[in-house]
Amino acid sequence: MNKELTLTSEDFADVALRSIVATDQDSLRRWKNAHRFAFFYQDIITPEQQTQWFEGYWERPHDFMFIVLAEDAAVGCLGFRMLDSAADVYNVILGVPEMGGRGLMRKAMRLMCSYVLRDFTRDIGVKVLRANPAIEWYNKIGFQETQAHETYVEMRLDLARFQPCRFRITNREQK
Ligand SMILES: CC(C)(COP(=O)(O)OP(=O)(O)OC[C@H]1O[C@@H](n2cnc3c(N)ncnc32)[C@H](O)[C@@H]1OP(=O)(O)O)[C@@H](O)C(=O)NCCC(=O)NCCS
Repeated sequence: MNKELTLTSEDFADVALRSIVATDQDSLRRWKNAHRFAFFYQDIITPEQQTQWFEGYWERPHDFMFIVLAEDAAVGCLGFRMLDSAADVYNVILGVPEMGGRGLMRKAMRLMCSYVLRDFTRDIGVKVLRANPAIEWYNKIGFQETQAHETYVEMRLDLARFQPCRFRITNREQK
């Protein structure tokens, strides 16, 4: 599985997704630590743990983490991994707060889900802590709650409410 790809939309030009490379690890760690209370794992991640995660990530064929590029600047990240036959969205973070509320992360999610729908599965879910206001954000994108647990909810992309975008894949390995 080639893990070096870039996704660009044919419906909007201001947001693209570039799959992560080793030099993104610092940003990923910083962003995750800054927002750790939004996630299940809330301990500070050390550089060693980050490296260990990246090595594992590189070996897992159906696990993709992307840097969100807005006009070529890295503003955040998001990813998905295949668990059985469903996609699990994870590590969705706006890393640069000044760029928030402009719809960039929404476009990033739209692009990633469009890719997953076409090439992997039509079953896309996410688990969100109950205390996280991002639940409402997911709702507006087209996810709906399917199961409530004590501390978190499971949400699934409702295909009737989600509008995929047209996109292009650039395979960087072959360039
Ligand atoms: C969740 C998160 C990624 C959302 O980032 P964001 O920058 O607010 O995302 P967007 O800009 O796409 O949000 C859209 C908002 O911008 C507004 N907006 C402004 N211009 C817009 C445009 N052109 N298009 C779409 N939305 C626009 C929308 O109205 C929307 O606001 P609303 O939700 O109040 O309606 C961010 O809050 C974050 O990183 N949170 C911490 C980590 C986290 O909780 N992650 C999820 C864990 S499961």
